[in-house]
Amino acid sequence: MFTRMARSTHAHSLFTFLLLLSLSFIPSHALSPAGTFLFGGCTQQRYVPGSAYESNLDSLLTSLLNSATFSSYNNFTVEGPSQQDVIYGLYQCRGDLSMPDCAACVTRAVTRAGELCSKTCGGAVQLEGCYVKYDNDSFLGVEDKTVVMKKCGPSDGYEAGPMGQRDAVLANLASEGGLYRAGGSGEVQGLAQCVGDLSAGECQDCLSEAIGRLKSECSTASYGDMFLGKCYARYSTGGAGQHVYPQAHEGKSPDEGTKTFAIIVGLLAGVALLIIFIAFVKKVVEGNGK
Ligand SMILES: *[C@@H]1O[C@H](CO)[C@@H](O)[C@H](O)[C@H]1NC(C)=O
Ligand SMILES: *[C@@H]1O[C@H](CO)[C@@H](O)[C@H](O)[C@H]1NC(C)=O
Repeated sequence: MFTRMARSTHAHSLFTFLLLLSLSFIPSHALSPAGTFLFGGCTQQRYVPGSAYESNLDSLLTSLLNSATFSSYNNFTVEGPSQQDVIYGLYQCRGDLSMPDCAACVTRAVTRAGELCSKTCGGAVQLEGCYVKYDNDSFLGVEDKTVVMKKCGPSDGYEAGPMGQRDAVLANLASEGGLYRAGGSGEVQGLAQCVGDLSAGECQDCLSEAIGRLKSECSTASYGDMFLGKCYARYSTGGAGQHVYPQAHEGKSPDEGTKTFAIIVGLLAGVALLIIFIAFVKKVVEGNGK
């Protein structure tokens, strides 16, 4: 009995040590600025801690994190023992992010959702570089043009110059095609993104709505953000109160991106090895206990 306790305490402290060690290797700057928080929301319904729903949610979030190391969009459905335990989830990275940056962003978004939506059935978080959503109500493949977040910068005070340019940039975004669209002219920059579960036609429809609303509701604003349920459009004129869209590799060399990726892959491998190691230790300890 005594041996058993001593050994599992040993395994436990080793685990904690390795965890802290690996966390200390995650470069914090790799998360910024794509990791900047924009908004989040949670459902009212809560799940019962320790329920099948909770373990399904855990496996869903793990799937999202793993997938984000090799794909900029994915969706998952985790079936439960009963229909009540089924959970749906997806993530979408901004089209210009590299895979390492996408993985770092989704990791951050999932962490944020966990803090924000503790024990709620559903949650959604939008960061600068990625979007994560999960719910027990299927929303996959459903176009959603509800305004989720709208922000208009201060008025520029002059309409002709930048606003004409803004409208031209937005018109280009509307006609560009694709799930991710970016363009600019002079100081004016525009950005648009659909979630990957929309068809080309649905994406076009969603973005037309977002861009139309930007023009009418942020008519003379120096910048505008229009986030709908499944797509968003944004612009910045470089005028008063401007915000500049973060670039994927701002202030860092491609090498660092590769390093981050290697670290993430290393971490995943490390966790797998740890699980095997702990299972082994458990077996040995149990064997000794008999
Ligand atoms: C989601 O879970 C909540 C709480 O358990 C439940 O009331 C609701 O009916 C579920 N929704 C669906 C679509 O299963
Ligand atoms: C969800 O993912 C599956 C497999 O990756 C894919 O076949 C399906 O089209 C996706 N569904 C949506 C709505 O994106």
